Amino acid sequence: MRGVLRNALLMMAGCAALAAAASADEHEHRARVPMLKAYVQECSGCHIAFPPRMLPAASWQRVMAGLATHYGSDASLDTATVNQISVWLNANAGTGRRVREAPPEDRITRSDWFLRKHHEVAPGVFLRPSIRSAANCAACHAGAERGDYDDDGVRIPR
Ligand code: HEC
Ligand code: HEC
Repeated sequence: MRGVLRNALLMMAGCAALAAAASADEHEHRARVPMLKAYVQECSGCHIAFPPRMLPAASWQRVMAGLATHYGSDASLDTATVNQISVWLNANAGTGRRVREAPPEDRITRSDWFLRKHHEVAPGVFLRPSIRSAANCAACHAGAERGDYDDDGVRIPR
C-alpha cells in the first residue's frame, strides 16, 4: 500500500515538473528577473517598468538610443545611466521564439504574442478613460508591477 502511494506521489511530482517546464517554455516572456535599481528608478515614472524579456535586445537598444524622442515624450538620461540600463536590458532581453523579432515601433503592445494574448480585448476597451492605452498594463494586471501577468490576476476596469 505504502509503495503504491509513494509511486503515485512520484508520478504526480513528475507530472508537475513536466507541466512547469512546458509552461516556462510557453510563456518565456513571463519569466521574472530581479529588476535593476536604476531601471526601476528611471523607467517607471511614466509607466510601469516593463519586463525586459518582453522585447528583443535590438528593440531595447533602439529605445535606449532614442530617449530624447520617446513615444512623444522626452525621457533622456545622462550617458552613464543610459549605458548601465542598456547593458542590463541587453543581458535580460527576450530570446524566445515569440519575442525574437522586433515589433513595430519597438512596442510590446504591437508584438504578435501580445496581440494574440489580448485578442479578446476589443480595441475600444484599451481607450477607456480608466485604461487609456494597451501599454497601461497595471490597469488590468494587478500584479504588473511585480512582473506578474498571470491570467488569474486580470480584471478589466470599466
Ligand atoms: C517622461 C515619461 C517617460 C519615461 C521617463 C519613460 N517612458 Fe517609456 N513611454 C512613455 C510614453 C508616453 C510611452 C507611450 C505609452 C503609450 O503609448 O501609451 C512609453 C512607452 C514605452 C515603451 C513601449 C510600450 C508599448 O506600447 O509596448 C517602452 C518599451 C518604454 N516606454 C520603455 C521605457 C524605458 C526603457 C524607459 C527608461 C529608460 C522609459 N520608457 C521611460 C513615457 C516615458
Ligand atoms: C484592458 C486590459 C489589459 C491591459 C491594459 C493589458 N492586458 Fe494583458 N491581458 C488582459 C486580458 C483580458 C488577458 C487574457 C486573460 C485570459 O486569457 O483569461 C491578458 C493576458 C495577458 C498575458 C497572458 C497571460 C497568460 O497567463 O497567458 C500577458 C503576458 C499579458 N496579458 C501581458 C500584458 C502586458 C505586458 C501589458 C502591458 C504592456 C498588458 N498585458 C496590458 C488584459 C489586459
